[in-house]
Amino acid sequence: MKWVVKNSKPEKADAQALVVFVGTDGRFAVPLAAVDAVTKGVFRNWQEKKHFPTEAGEAVVFHDVEGVEAGSVVVCALDDDARKLDAAAQAVAKLAQRHEWKKVALSLPEGIVTYDDALSVFAKGLGRAAYSFDTFKSEGKAKAALGKVSWQWLVGDKKAAEETLCWVDAWVAGTHLARELGDLPPNVCNPAYLGDRAKKLADEHDAVSAKVLKRKDIEALGMGALLGVAQGSNAEPRFIIMEYKPKNAVNTRPVVLVGKGVTFDTGGISLKPADGMELMKYDMGGAAAVFGTLAGLCEAKAPVHVVALIPAVENMPGGKATRPGDIVTSMSGKTIEVINTDAEGRLILCDALTYAERYEPQAVIDMATLTGACVVALGSVRAGLMGNDEALVEALFSAGEAARDLAWKMPLDTAYREMMKSSFADFVNASAVREAGTLTAGAFLGAFAEKYPWAHLDIAGVAWGRGIQKGGTGRPVGLLLEYFRRLAA
Ligand code: BES
Ligand code: MN
Ligand code: ZN
Repeated sequence: MKWVVKNSKPEKADAQALVVFVGTDGRFAVPLAAVDAVTKGVFRNWQEKKHFPTEAGEAVVFHDVEGVEAGSVVVCALDDDARKLDAAAQAVAKLAQRHEWKKVALSLPEGIVTYDDALSVFAKGLGRAAYSFDTFKSEGKAKAALGKVSWQWLVGDKKAAEETLCWVDAWVAGTHLARELGDLPPNVCNPAYLGDRAKKLADEHDAVSAKVLKRKDIEALGMGALLGVAQGSNAEPRFIIMEYKPKNAVNTRPVVLVGKGVTFDTGGISLKPADGMELMKYDMGGAAAVFGTLAGLCEAKAPVHVVALIPAVENMPGGKATRPGDIVTSMSGKTIEVINTDAEGRLILCDALTYAERYEPQAVIDMATLTGACVVALGSVRAGLMGNDEALVEALFSAGEAARDLAWKMPLDTAYREMMKSSFADFVNASAVREAGTLTAGAFLGAFAEKYPWAHLDIAGVAWGRGIQKGGTGRPVGLLLEYFRRLAA
């Protein structure tokens, strides 16, 4: 995004449009009051004549206002709900697109909102609006590239604003990449494709290196659980290792990120119903978020050492597919009876969690579209969050609150792990009962993550939009970038 931070008066701003705010209770934010004063009260006048926005998030345009340099003034109504500021950003982005504005000046809703991250929320909203996925459309591609608009922020504290916008840029780069990978169709975005994207990321950034393991290497490592999932598909599996290691990293031992990379989940022999199965292209949402986080760290030049592990497979019911009842041996040596081939995420993740041990990590954070039960429990508002280290879980929880990319702490009592015992092997991959499905899945992973502080994010409900806003969301890139921003500080 093109950001410019300026200290000029709103009425003097050199732009095609100036964005200012009014409260839903009618109060003018400081910049609007100033503009109103130099225009001898035209805005008050319009407000009295009811030509003014009143719904939070609503925006109204006024053209050729005397006394204001900008050709148009956009007045946005707002209350104290940050989601409405995001809605206002979407409205402003639409206007910029429609009017083909190239330069837009923005004030902040000072005096109307009480939260202190208005700049970040508004800028992220503009960044979100700049995403489009129309690679596969022959017509109706997004006209004006919002990425080309120069957004001028009129603020007092330039330095703080620039610092904030740097992390917003990281967020934009990260969520756009994660959304793109999610939105790509599964015939394009397969395990090999993810491997290629890892190499591309490494080519683009000096601080990133990538290694992509193929079936032979994966076999040599003894990742029997991962291979068991992959064997039902003609798509070759990959085990992707990326490392982000800037020279000035503050942590001596790396943080390892692990992302579930099931590029399509049919359920395997335990086949899923047809209805909505196309959404299972998003079953690599964890991998997408790991990619996005790394891209964001590069953008912010964050001084943290991070290793990314992505087990990438396709879960298909081919002739060689794992049968319910098969027993596989994981890289850890623990054996797993595959009760349900649709519980494949934990099978590929357990091998990645074992692989993570070699880094002697400071922390391991895995993210996965792991259970339908998590969608039932938390919907699309919060991700499920659990782990074996209270401080790590708390750090992720509070990063989520600050970034407005929310998660919720859930329990991992040993009783949940006991529900995953098998009569014929060390573990089953799916509990005999449906209850606490998110927690039994988390407990299963926990059995493979005992050698380091570990946390798990179940992002089944938040990785892609349901209802009106369809498509990948890029979550939880925001949460993770905030976690690393704090780690670096
Ligand atoms: N990828 C799914 C989980 C999922 C379902 C994510 C719906 C988003 C929306 C996962 O691989 C899965 O199928 N899990 C099973 C586990 C069960 C068989 C123990 C589930 O949740 O039903
Ligand atoms: Mn599944
Ligand atoms: Zn899955």
